Amino acid sequence: MHKMIEDIEKKRIALQADLDAEKTQAERNRLGQFATPTALARDILEYAFKFIPGNEKVKFLDPAIGTGSFYSALLKFFPQNRIEEALGFEIDPHYGEPSRLLWKDTSLTLKLADFTHEEPSGRFNLLICNPPYVRHHHLQNGTKFRLQSNTRKASGMKLSGLAGLYCHFLGLAHAWMADGGVAGWLIPSEFMDVNYGTEVKTYLLKRVTLLHIHRFDPDDVQFADALVSSAVVWFRNTPPSVDHKILFTMGGTLLEPKMSRSISAKELALESKWSRFPAADVRLKTTTPKLSDFFQIKRGIATGDNKFFILSEDAVKAHELPTQELHPILPSPRYLLDDEVKADQNGNPLLERRLFLLDTHLRENEIKDRYPTLWAYLEKGKEKGIHEGYICSHRSPWYSQENRPPAPIVCTYIGRGDTKRGRPFRFILNESRATVANVYLAMYPTPLLARALKSDKTLIHKVWGVLNTISTEQLLSEGRVYGGGMFKLEPKELANVDATAIAELIPDLHVESKTEQLTMFG
Ligand SMILES: C[S@@+](CC[C@H](N)C(=O)[O-])C[C@H]1O[C@@H](n2cnc3c(N)ncnc32)[C@H](O)[C@@H]1O
Repeated sequence: MHKMIEDIEKKRIALQADLDAEKTQAERNRLGQFATPTALARDILEYAFKFIPGNEKVKFLDPAIGTGSFYSALLKFFPQNRIEEALGFEIDPHYGEPSRLLWKDTSLTLKLADFTHEEPSGRFNLLICNPPYVRHHHLQNGTKFRLQSNTRKASGMKLSGLAGLYCHFLGLAHAWMADGGVAGWLIPSEFMDVNYGTEVKTYLLKRVTLLHIHRFDPDDVQFADALVSSAVVWFRNTPPSVDHKILFTMGGTLLEPKMSRSISAKELALESKWSRFPAADVRLKTTTPKLSDFFQIKRGIATGDNKFFILSEDAVKAHELPTQELHPILPSPRYLLDDEVKADQNGNPLLERRLFLLDTHLRENEIKDRYPTLWAYLEKGKEKGIHEGYICSHRSPWYSQENRPPAPIVCTYIGRGDTKRGRPFRFILNESRATVANVYLAMYPTPLLARALKSDKTLIHKVWGVLNTISTEQLLSEGRVYGGGMFKLEPKELANVDATAIAELIPDLHVESKTEQLTMFG
């Protein structure tokens, strides 16, 4: 079988070369007659294999089959008994007739016909196509109107008069796909950026589930010139889920790309230039960077009763509480003389006042079995009615705490302007694994900042430095002033503060002059 497949592929390659040689370049341009190299056709079908569940039979369609490079690759990766049907269309008898002869002993039905005139039948679960690349100005006016109307009927795409024939192929083929079927299209990548591609992108995001777009590296000489600006676009004929993500890859091969990045459909819908991916990160949506671009800000833990749940080292010892169920927690800001909290080798803060938060997820009966002293402590809490307090009575179990992992930077958000420091808000660098109570806001790096922090270990210090240079006035322009000189900043207000100075610290992050939007490369 293996030998037979290799032999017929050799014959096909020779046939393709002979048929191409008999035509002029201009003739081949007119019908977009550029064959897919064997290696790429094979990569595409090998990749397609993983999308079709093992027990599912394949109904294969190639609307622009030529000599059948994809059908040949299909035979290599899908066993005969899984191929229930294979259908191909070819408009030009010059390729169509010898091709029919080549495949006459196989399951392929090759129709010599114009695909755009064919009555669709939505039964194909694997559609692979390298459609003719015929630019719009080579389409006759009557043809263009007919294509526009039929494409709209088939796919909902209202293509502009500037769309090339390949966009119409994509749209018309929609009506041939079975529900849940998969399509792989080898098409020019220009639809990703140009105006006429907007409708194609809307179709890919709304009508079907876009899975993956791979582009070839223009510097890669592996493929013929015609392919360097091509993309392989994969989608499934199912409506997309809300939190759907799309894989963008580039360079190398489809199976082993050099670069990759997943982008959420929501973010893609806001981006008009898809060719930015995978090299670039998503653009930030504001023209001015905000703290929310770099930090997710959360209020610290509301324990329900700080006296009961937050214990000094001595109290922990006195009640013989198990260290496994305790987490270090920072004392209130007035006990922090320094704005930097260093840690010992266990990650505990190097502070005089060392406090611990009672934070256990164990159920009461487990606690009773494992830690009788802790159980006794909780019982004492109940005697005092702590479990009936507003916060505790709304939690289950009543002594459990919100999840607030240690944050690298925490901020005091209530203060007076007339303190000795003269600053109501302090940003504290937390090098320990201590969490914080709700006298602080915890600042967690967003993925964008986290990536930058990973590559520059000193960056967090610089960011902290910059935060402490933000003037009180600037912070208060987002926050509020209460009577008696009290200042307060809510998490959302802090998130809104201008963070241009932080953006400037990150070398790969720059403002694109044209769009004035931030982009991160890497
Ligand atoms: C880019 S080639 C791809 C051929 C082959 N599938 C491959 O990948 O090697 C496009 C093929 O579509 C054919 N074609 C052009 N317009 C067509 C149409 N309206 N209906 C069917 N085939 C068409 C061309 O003759 C050409 O053979």
